[in-house]
Amino acid sequence: MVRLNCPKISKEKERKKESSMSRPFPLYPTSINRWSSWAISNTFKISYTTKAKKAMETHNLTVKQLYCCLLLGIFVIISFQASFSEAETHYHEFVIQAKPVRRLCRTHNTITVNGLFPGPTLEVRDGDSLVIKAINNARYNVTLHWHGVRQLRNPWADGPDRVTQCPIRPGRSYTYRFTIENQEGTLWWHAHSSWLRATVYGALIIHPKLGSPYSFPMPRREIPILLGEWWDRNPMDVLRLADFTGAAPNVSDAYTINGQPGDLYRCSKQETVRFPVDPGETILLRVINSGLNQEFFFAVANHILTVVSVDADFTKPFATSFIMIAPGQTTDVLLTADQTPGHYYMAAHAYNSANAPFDNTTTTAILEYKSAPCNANKGRSSTPIFPQLPGFNDTNSAIAFTSSLRSPSKVNVPLQIDENLFFTVGLGLINCTNPNSPRCQGPNGTRFAASINNVSFVLPTRNSLMQAYYQGQPGVFTTDFPPVPPVKFDYTGNVSRGLWQPVKATKLYKLKFGAKVQIVFQDTSIVTVENHPMHLHGHHFAVVGSGFGNFNPQTDPAKFNLIDPPYRNTIGNPPGGWVAIRLVADNPGIWLLHCHLDSHLNWGLAMAFLVENGVGELQSVQPPPLDLPQC
Ligand code: C2O
Repeated sequence: MVRLNCPKISKEKERKKESSMSRPFPLYPTSINRWSSWAISNTFKISYTTKAKKAMETHNLTVKQLYCCLLLGIFVIISFQASFSEAETHYHEFVIQAKPVRRLCRTHNTITVNGLFPGPTLEVRDGDSLVIKAINNARYNVTLHWHGVRQLRNPWADGPDRVTQCPIRPGRSYTYRFTIENQEGTLWWHAHSSWLRATVYGALIIHPKLGSPYSFPMPRREIPILLGEWWDRNPMDVLRLADFTGAAPNVSDAYTINGQPGDLYRCSKQETVRFPVDPGETILLRVINSGLNQEFFFAVANHILTVVSVDADFTKPFATSFIMIAPGQTTDVLLTADQTPGHYYMAAHAYNSANAPFDNTTTTAILEYKSAPCNANKGRSSTPIFPQLPGFNDTNSAIAFTSSLRSPSKVNVPLQIDENLFFTVGLGLINCTNPNSPRCQGPNGTRFAASINNVSFVLPTRNSLMQAYYQGQPGVFTTDFPPVPPVKFDYTGNVSRGLWQPVKATKLYKLKFGAKVQIVFQDTSIVTVENHPMHLHGHHFAVVGSGFGNFNPQTDPAKFNLIDPPYRNTIGNPPGGWVAIRLVADNPGIWLLHCHLDSHLNWGLAMAFLVENGVGELQSVQPPPLDLPQC
């Protein structure tokens, strides 16, 4: 166990942290734009209030003028209130740039947004609009994705490279414009090209509309907890090497909480993140897995966590001693500081469901009671208590957690299904003509691949899918993605080698606007079974059932939860099992569906839906913005 000395700077650090990370959402929307370099949204209100003051000062208060002032006063109050209930537009500039970042005793030229790692937190209300000018001052192509934002009729702002847009070239810019429509909770944003999201990510917090309540008692304080992965080298080089050799990319060297590895890593102790709490107070932790390739178990020593929301959809509150969170997912938990005042570690380590190498280190931050002995008797050291995390391969705990999630009350799950899709998800191997080639360093002289229904997804190079579709450009993709695997086999059994090699292609699956869709994701045991966190862009879905082994279409649907299933945007199948989701395809455009482990995405564990326009403007894709990058 690590001994922790009370750092001398802790008081000041505490104050600093309180004013940034764990500050309650401000009453005045003006201060929302903390990072905004051109916040202009509130000038209207300010000019009104100052005008009213001036009027009061300079006028001689005759009865007539008093009456006049009264009227003006009422007008000011009404317009002030009106401006409060109105949605706002938040303007931000995101400059993608390299910045020296020191971790694990070494400094790397890290790609960041505005020099911040992790990137800036966006805080908005439901109904607000965002205008984010992304300026690429880095040496890589980049795109940004607002993970979980539905982007209704607006795929142009979604961001996946070569799917809905061509990348922003170095030196160029693109402005993402979108509106939050009927969503609230914790989402996040990240780069969606190559492996840039290893360091280009941040929280996106959506508060309810003014005047509408939270579905749970909202604490005064909230803290975003971004779990990440750190490589002690340029993550883009890690990917480049793997792309060359065909072998699996190196696992990360550290995990991080809000960008810091914590006490258990070399050269990291001074910077361990500390969260001061008042004894007895309840705080909201907005936990986000922004890791590239790893599911996590997360816990806070001695403290019960009450889950209230996942992926920006509310849940029935339930108490747990740990959470399991996959890349792409978010989990909001309430924590009450009801333990003996002291120091408690919050920690995350891998949930490793595959038979494959993984980073087995542990990241920590410290929950610090303000009245803890350390603060009272200056200089005395105290040892934070360490939480119990489930073991690395404790699938039972992982599944027990995920399957405890429920929507708060009865939800509208599609009951009549128009499109019944069965998707095998898993790894594969591409055989090489020369197995000794330096480019075939995967198992037995092969190259790693991954697929859905045996199609390993290839991104187009000539144009993005959405631009090609909108412009009617032929030859960029086909729409013959198979609704079921081309061959039936015992998916989770001993799969014959002849079925290990997928076919590379850019195939989409067409959906009619409004189609009610069921997808069963069936893991395969090809190479290894594994939990694949499947993320669908532009939609959220009900998770109606899951199980181990092969899905049985005769008996399993009878066990589906069609009453209060949780809604999510990312869900993993149990390793060697299946998971079933239902959704309505009510968002026209092209939407990527993929495994949120970036190593698998890179190997082709993806496909895309083409949701056709419905009737009229409100069911059709908007025209693209003029500054949309071209390939
Ligand atoms: Cu969080 Cu396709 O991404």
